[in-house]
Amino acid sequence: MQDLKGKIAIVTGGSRGIGRHIALQLAQRGADVAINYRSRASDADAVIKELEAIGVRALAIQADLSKMPEARSMIKEVHDTWGRIDILVNNAGITRDRSMRKLTDDDWNEVLDTNLGSVYATCSEVLNIMLEQKYGRIINITSFVGQAGNFGQANYAASKGGIIAFTKTLALEAAKHNVTVNAIAPGFTETEMLAQVPANIREQIISRVPMGRFGQPEEIARAVVFLAAEGDYITGQQINVNGGVYM
Ligand SMILES: NC(=O)c1ccc[n+]([C@@H]2O[C@H](COP(=O)([O-])OP(=O)(O)OC[C@H]3O[C@@H](n4cnc5c(N)ncnc54)[C@H](OP(=O)(O)O)[C@@H]3O)[C@@H](O)[C@H]2O)c1
Repeated sequence: MQDLKGKIAIVTGGSRGIGRHIALQLAQRGADVAINYRSRASDADAVIKELEAIGVRALAIQADLSKMPEARSMIKEVHDTWGRIDILVNNAGITRDRSMRKLTDDDWNEVLDTNLGSVYATCSEVLNIMLEQKYGRIINITSFVGQAGNFGQANYAASKGGIIAFTKTLALEAAKHNVTVNAIAPGFTETEMLAQVPANIREQIISRVPMGRFGQPEEIARAVVFLAAEGDYITGQQINVNGGVYM
């Protein structure tokens, strides 16, 4: 199905993990896709080759989104190159896990700036473009941790809870202009982020998931593409794709 043909999409952190699958599935539906990455250029190059093999235009942009001017420039670069932006997927995110007694100010700031500051900056920059187009689909990747909290993740939980509140507010402000803003809340999903967790803890985690397994990044991407391609009357929502770990 090529129902996103002619649409321009940006996927932050699109060079690996969940973001890579979002980029590929958007391309399979026909969208031209710009991916952003912070440091691993070879991963981004590999995704660009995969996108081009699907037959769409592809662009990789290095930018550290924890720095607001870089996040804004990334949006401008895509707009200058392709003339419009239809879909923005804010996917880039990091963890710096420590219990509150050990958490440092740097741990806090790095996670808040990367996960939440970047969402504010990209949305702020893309908003006027989408309002003028009278079309836009913004999808922010939050986490069930932003809904439920999680031991050792006060910084991450605050950033992801902030994304949910931000999403609802921007959805209210943009709704009249046919710009929808939604969040996807994954549960534990098999990427490098989860691979950082020690094996014994991973086993404990699986025992908490009613479906008895981790999510696959493809499964998160399918929900994102649904919102982008078919969610015309859906705004201000958070869709949980989490195997039942938070209901
Ligand atoms: N995996 C899970 O269990 C899980 C669960 C719930 C929610 N999520 C959320 O899903 C999203 C994707 O997670 P993932 O597991 O796919 O992560 P991942 O495999 O660690 O990939 C992270 C991606 O974000 C990019 N990135 C990190 N910091 C960045 C920065 N400052 N500026 C620009 N790009 C940056 C990375 O680029 P480089 O490689 O160049 O650094 C990479 O492309 C995140 O928002 C995460 O919080 C994940």
